[in-house]
Amino acid sequence: MKGIARWFMLAAVASAVGGMVWGIQMSASQDHLLSPAHGHLNLLGWVSCAIYALYYHLLPEAAEGALPRWHLGCALLALVLLVPGIPLAIQERTEVLAQAGSAVALLSILIFASVVLRSRPKKAVFVPALKLRDRPRTGVQGRSAVTFRSLRRRQTPAA
Ligand code: HEM
Ligand code: HEM
Repeated sequence: MKGIARWFMLAAVASAVGGMVWGIQMSASQDHLLSPAHGHLNLLGWVSCAIYALYYHLLPEAAEGALPRWHLGCALLALVLLVPGIPLAIQERTEVLAQAGSAVALLSILIFASVVLRSRPKKAVFVPALKLRDRPRTGVQGRSAVTFRSLRRRQTPAA
């Protein structure tokens, strides 16, 4: 995983760590007041960013151009605004941050929608994986290579 996909996955795991520590803190203190902020850190951060990461990883062509970079920027900005913005709104201090975060979150999903609409992959996503046979047989990639090769052998009629 590299480029935009990797940045999204880094944001996802960072959100998961933060969101889960927050969840444990809420459970331990039995104070669930800020649970919507914890929930949306996990859902917009961990879940959504991990989905974006996997999408860009599986369709590398979709990650080309400026749109995916705008998508990443808006998704991160939405998190940075919403996660502190929700507690501020709950505590009735200000709703501005939460409102701005919501608008940027909407913008980020609209950018992603255009990325999805413009991407028309010519190959099935598993085709690049067949090329793994040319790589050294180490770690997970090596095992995938063996699996794909043995699959193909099984599909080829015996001479
Ligand atoms: C270590 C892991 C986690 C712990 C200890 C934890 C803990 C909690 C607690 C104590 C609440 C408040 C429940 C209530 O007041 O009824 C809560 C709410 C919630 N959590 Fe988690 N959570 C964890 C992980 C996650 C993850 C991974 C997600 C999403 C992928 C998630 C999504 C939510 C949502 C959506 C809510 C409800 C938010 C709301 O009140 O609007 N949580 N969690
Ligand atoms: C612009 C982005 C979003 C905004 C402004 C937003 C707003 C809200 C609000 C106002 C609530 C009610 C909170 C409460 O009363 O405790 C809520 C709850 C919730 N939202 Fe979101 N949300 C957004 C994105 C998402 C996304 C992307 C997901 C899932 C992937 C999600 C899942 C949930 C869930 C599971 C609940 C809790 C429902 C419950 O406790 O009954 N939200 N959201």
